[in-house]
Amino acid sequence: MTPGRGRVAIVTGAANGIGRATALEMAARGYRLGLIDRDPARLAEVAGRVETAGVEACAAEADVVDPAAIQAAVDAVEAVLGPCDVLVACAGVGRMTHVPDLDTAGLRAMLEVNVLGMAQSFEAVLPGMIGRGRGHLVGISSVAGLRGMPWMASYSASKAAVWTYLEGLRPALKRRGVRITTVFPGFVRTGMTLDVPFARPVTMLEPEQAAVHIVRAIEKGSRDYMFPWLTALGMGFLRRSPNRLYDWMMDRAGPKALTTDF
Ligand SMILES: NC(=O)c1ccc[n+]([C@@H]2O[C@H](COP(=O)([O-])OP(=O)(O)OC[C@H]3O[C@@H](n4cnc5c(N)ncnc54)[C@H](OP(=O)(O)O)[C@@H]3O)[C@@H](O)[C@H]2O)c1
Repeated sequence: MTPGRGRVAIVTGAANGIGRATALEMAARGYRLGLIDRDPARLAEVAGRVETAGVEACAAEADVVDPAAIQAAVDAVEAVLGPCDVLVACAGVGRMTHVPDLDTAGLRAMLEVNVLGMAQSFEAVLPGMIGRGRGHLVGISSVAGLRGMPWMASYSASKAAVWTYLEGLRPALKRRGVRITTVFPGFVRTGMTLDVPFARPVTMLEPEQAAVHIVRAIEKGSRDYMFPWLTALGMGFLRRSPNRLYDWMMDRAGPKALTTDF
């Protein structure tokens, strides 16, 4: 029997990048897939791939920032596939932060999609999970959420919010049978990282590799899961670095990392 065993997984941001790859990896492991995103044509393509893997798929278009839309999409998926066992909130946006223009519109978008969009996606399945006394919510933070990162201050803030929000929710949900996993990916080659003007080649995982890690975290029931291991090691060092050392390193490393000023 495959690990998914016909369980129902809903993935937001399923049309592209990490969400798409995670949905396909879960399909290969026997999960039945609810696919939510805002691009119906791309969703249909992913649904077709899931069905080719021999499992049922149900695609629903929604903007996760709109609570009524995400609730309607989850209801539509559950009406076809049955109650959601696992929700993986992959929908997200990322933009660089420059000065003196702080792009507060970008900050707002990242907080709305990455934080509120995730919370609203969870809220849409939570009453059902609590009623059944079981369920699993998976949030995608980032290693960039563990310390403030040069050129991505707003993105870092949104991902730090994901991390602490889920940490704070964990005890209340655990008592009601709902598990939370927070995933912290390093760089992954997707639309989000495609246009970052890196000064030199940056090692990135492919979305399919990221998906293997995410599904492993889900199946292990990890509390927190960071990958790849070398990034996790480096991040462990940065997290424990005294502020003065961290600031000194970022003052030097940040400007050298990109071809543009920030
Ligand atoms: N790539 C990385 O290096 C990396 C590292 C750490 C964490 N992450 C996180 O991983 C998650 C997936 O990112 P990715 O790299 O796979 O990016 P991606 O390729 O851009 O995929 C994100 C998907 O989410 C969708 N989306 C965005 N806003 C949405 C909304 N309001 N409602 C519904 N769907 C929405 C996007 O649709 P559109 O194409 O229409 O925008 C896209 O299909 C994000 O939370 C990201 O922050 C990524």
